[in-house]
Amino acid sequence: MPEPTSEEIAGLIRPGRVHRRVYADPAIFEIEMERIFGHAWIYVGHESQVRAPGDFVRTRIGRRPMVMVRHEDGSIRVIHNQCAHRGAMVVAKESGNAKRFECCYHGWTYATDGRLVHVPLRHGYPAHFDPDDPGTAMVAAPRVDSYRGFVFASLAADGPPLADFLGYMTTSFDDMVDRSPDDEIEVAGGVFRHAYDGNWKLYLENLCDAAHPIFVHRSSIDAARAQDDTVHTTGAGEIAVRQMRQNGAPPEFWRERVGIWTYPGGHAFLGDYHDDEKLVAASGDPAFAEYLAALEAKKGTEETRRIMEVMRWNSNVWPNLSFMSQFRQLRVVHPVAVDRTEVHTYAFRLKGAPARMFEDTIAFANVTNGTGSPVLTDDLETYGRIGTGVTSQGAEWIEIGRGYETDRPDGKGGVEGVDSTSEVYIRNMYDAWLGFMAAP
Ligand code: FES
Ligand SMILES: [Fe+2]
Repeated sequence: MPEPTSEEIAGLIRPGRVHRRVYADPAIFEIEMERIFGHAWIYVGHESQVRAPGDFVRTRIGRRPMVMVRHEDGSIRVIHNQCAHRGAMVVAKESGNAKRFECCYHGWTYATDGRLVHVPLRHGYPAHFDPDDPGTAMVAAPRVDSYRGFVFASLAADGPPLADFLGYMTTSFDDMVDRSPDDEIEVAGGVFRHAYDGNWKLYLENLCDAAHPIFVHRSSIDAARAQDDTVHTTGAGEIAVRQMRQNGAPPEFWRERVGIWTYPGGHAFLGDYHDDEKLVAASGDPAFAEYLAALEAKKGTEETRRIMEVMRWNSNVWPNLSFMSQFRQLRVVHPVAVDRTEVHTYAFRLKGAPARMFEDTIAFANVTNGTGSPVLTDDLETYGRIGTGVTSQGAEWIEIGRGYETDRPDGKGGVEGVDSTSEVYIRNMYDAWLGFMAAP
C-alpha cells in the first residue's frame, strides 16, 4: 500500500474527532516514528543518572536504542547504540560506568562521545576503511539539551530550541525541582516497566483524563470506601486508601475544583484533585511538617508558600513524557509497534528533605505504578481494550469533543477546560501531531 499523503493524514483529524486508523494503522505508526520521534525533542533521562564522567544509561528515541552518557569533558551525549562494524548493539548493560564502550562482537571500541578509538586486527580492513570518518562512530544525536536536569535529545539537526519547545511547561519542571530544599532532585530506587497491547498515544491521553477514574477504577474506589479508617493509618496503606477514595470524587468536584490546562506543542497538565491533608498538602503529617521547615529554612516563608500553592497533578510533555511533582513520579512512553507500548516509571528524591518524604514517594510509586498496583492494572486493561476495539469495523470516528464548546484561553498562551473532564488536552495533542505529521 502506498504511504498516505500529508492531505490524507490531515483528513484523519476533524474538529472534536479522530479517525480510528490513527490508533490502528501500521503505516501511520511508521510515519509517526519518522516525523515525530525523528524530529521532536524527546525526553531521554535525568542528569542525576549520569553524574560522573563515564556514567551511562540505556535509553530510546522512538524505537531507536540510544545511550545517554556523561563524556569526559562533563557534557552529556546521547549516542546511537549501534556498532559501525556489523551493527551490533554495543552497550548491553542498562546502566553503569565505562571509560570506553567495547563491542562484544569483534572488539571495536568507542569513546564516551561515540568516536571510534580502537579497531583490533586493523591490518585486515580495506583501503577505503577510515576509522576517523565520523560515520564509523556510535553516531551522536545532533541536538541534546536539558532543562533543570531533565535531558532531551532530537534526531533532527534543526528545529526550535528546547526552551521554545517546552514553553510554559517549564513551570511544571520548576514545580518539581523547586520542591527540593537544595533545589536538586535525583532519580532514586529502581524502574517500574510495564507494557500494553495498544497505541503509544493512549498513555498520555489517559494521564490527564479526569472522566475515567470513577469508571475504570471503580473496584478500588469501592474497596477503599469500605475500608475502616483505623486499619491503615501510615505509609503505603494510608496513601493507597486515600488515593483510591479520591478517584471516586463526585462530578461537581471535577468540574469546580480541578482544572485542565493545555499549551502549544501538545503539552498539558491536570490540576491536583486531592484536598486531603494527609495525602498531598499533608499538613497533618509530622514528616511533612519537618520537610516544610527544611524548605522554609532554605527558601524563606514567602517562597515556600508560593511553591506549596502550585497544585498540579500529571504534567504531560508531548510526545513521550509525563511527570508529577506532588509525589515525584516520572513516566516515559516508548512506542514499540502500532499496538504495543512500553512505559518506564522513575521516582525522584528531593535533596535536603527528610528521608520519610522519599518513603512516601516509593509508597506512592507502588500504589500507582507498581506491577501490583490496584489502579495501573485497571488502566492497562483499558489500553488493551482500546487496542482491540480500534481494529474492528465499528465506528470510524473516535470522539474527542468533550468541552469543545466551552474551552477558553487561559491568559498564558494556553487553553483551559472549564471542566477538568474536557478532552481539550487530547485535541491539543492532535494539533501538535498534525504539525509534525501533515506539514507540507
Ligand atoms: S559488530 Fe561491533 S565489532 Fe563487529
Ligand atoms: Fe487511571
